[in-house]
Amino acid sequence: MCGIVGVTGVGDALPYLLQGLQKLEYRGYDSAGVYLSDDSGKDALIKEKGRVSKLAEKAIAETKGFKGTAGIAHTRWATHGNVTVENAHPQKSADNRFFLVHNGVIENYKELTDTYLQGVHFVSETDTEVAVQLVDKFSKDGMSTPDAFRKMISLLDGNSAYGFLLVDHEDPETLYVAKKKSPLLVGVSDHGNAVTSDAAAMIDLTKNFIELRDGDMAIVKPKSVTIYDAAGEEVNREPFTLEIDPEDTDKGAYPYYMLKEIDEQAVVARNISGHYYDDEGNLQGIDPEITDAIKKADRLYIVAAGTSYHAGLIGKRYFEQWAKIPTEVHIASEFAYDQPMLSEKPFFIFLSQSGETADSREVLDNVKKQGFPALTLANVMNSTLTREADFALPVLAGPEIAVASTKAYTAQVLVQAILASALGNPGFDLKAELAKVAVEIQAITDEKESFKKIAESALKDQHSAFYIGRGLDAAVALEAALKLKEISYIQTEGFAAGELKHGTISLIEDGTPVFALLTQKKTAGLLRGEVAQVAARGANTIVFASESLAKDGDAYVLPEVNELLMPLLAVIPAQLIAYYATLDRGLDVDRPRNLAKSVTVQ
Ligand code: F6R
Repeated sequence: MCGIVGVTGVGDALPYLLQGLQKLEYRGYDSAGVYLSDDSGKDALIKEKGRVSKLAEKAIAETKGFKGTAGIAHTRWATHGNVTVENAHPQKSADNRFFLVHNGVIENYKELTDTYLQGVHFVSETDTEVAVQLVDKFSKDGMSTPDAFRKMISLLDGNSAYGFLLVDHEDPETLYVAKKKSPLLVGVSDHGNAVTSDAAAMIDLTKNFIELRDGDMAIVKPKSVTIYDAAGEEVNREPFTLEIDPEDTDKGAYPYYMLKEIDEQAVVARNISGHYYDDEGNLQGIDPEITDAIKKADRLYIVAAGTSYHAGLIGKRYFEQWAKIPTEVHIASEFAYDQPMLSEKPFFIFLSQSGETADSREVLDNVKKQGFPALTLANVMNSTLTREADFALPVLAGPEIAVASTKAYTAQVLVQAILASALGNPGFDLKAELAKVAVEIQAITDEKESFKKIAESALKDQHSAFYIGRGLDAAVALEAALKLKEISYIQTEGFAAGELKHGTISLIEDGTPVFALLTQKKTAGLLRGEVAQVAARGANTIVFASESLAKDGDAYVLPEVNELLMPLLAVIPAQLIAYYATLDRGLDVDRPRNLAKSVTVQ
């Protein structure tokens, strides 16, 4: 949720830290802070509520004439304590010696306070301040800084999650790092080293990163990195090279990342095809070990959260219809604590953009303990879910920065389709059909003006809206509704249309916008009936129908591809409508309130 960056030995730390924070802002953004120091003992702590841009203004003004050569910084998404400057990180010890940033939750911070920190004056309401005060206490008791840091970590409850970055003012160019359940990487370069919760945030300094594992502690200096594993043994971890262009993480000429990412979907579809098919149209890139393991299963369990869960609802159809394997789709946060009765030979598929979602990680942990095989499909490879599952396949959407997921959804649907086709014949040329999908996604995204008009007319001054559909369209309706509500704050329900008459239809009033997705032949007649029923009760119906099912008066005619792949097209208007409705309300499309891109707390 929160984002962490730190650098040492870089000459001028502040620009790296501020740029890093800007790139991490998508993770959480209610406040931010930075601590800078140089080797002469000069230092500065600057914190601010709100966006990183506000912190940047303040930090640049307050550090005129001072160049910190090392520093740590943080964007916060509040878990313990309100959004205040005091609660923003870095948190510090009472005597201004230790400074700490933290991503995660310390479950037993109250008990630790009662046991070790009686009489200590706290300035914040955060669990993080407890951690830094503990380091200070153990240091005052005579421990070295690494030992005090290690001791503090050893006292954290087993359920606690953390990515820590600590600076000791008495040795300000050394960064002390530790991680469990929160992503943390060490960036290495000839001109200084870095620590970050997301490699993309430090790409201006280096492309070489070492992934820390749970329980690791690292000591990062300007010219060296030493890593200790959970047992305290020094270990050698090889860096990997991040293969993204710094430009991929920039908005370019786009006003918002979300629009850029919506537009990128045609290219993403082509890239995925290029990765998973060779020139002759044969599947490649899926290790036969994966397909063999899946074929041994009597049931697939797709586990995911939010948009990724919605992508799983579409994937289910491919695995059942083509691979002929019964498939269940589960919400990770539910499955984690209420595991349903499993089949004899289950196989788990985790879907995740970030690969770091704590709810999904909890399920993966449980599943591993029970000895069941698991595959992760993730957009961020080298992420925890990809590392900890038995198998992983890339989703290949490219960096997704906007909080509202768009291209990762389509990419997840596409990769599930390709994987299912490796398990059983779809009965048509999937590769050729996916090429058509890419062309048609492009055609839809080229018609932005139509969706802008629909969004502005249908949703102006509306407080609620509905998306309805049947079959695969009902699954897309869930995603369409999530997109609209999460960024525009219009309360939107996605609905299996046949359920309306069982209760929800009573909510329809004069002018209530009801978007109907109509791409499935078998139920098209029934859905037309439901559209008529809500229209008769005053709803403003907006129908997006595929070409062969369209009628006069429909708001938009979707190009036609194989019916099972229509979700890949039907979702695009919904993404654009969410975007334009939000823009029309003057809201920040990329950073909706209360949300974070990578949800690393349960
Ligand atoms: C909504 C959205 C979220 C994520 C969910 C899971 O637009 O992006 O609902 O889909 O938080 O995240 P990942 O896919 O990273 O596991």
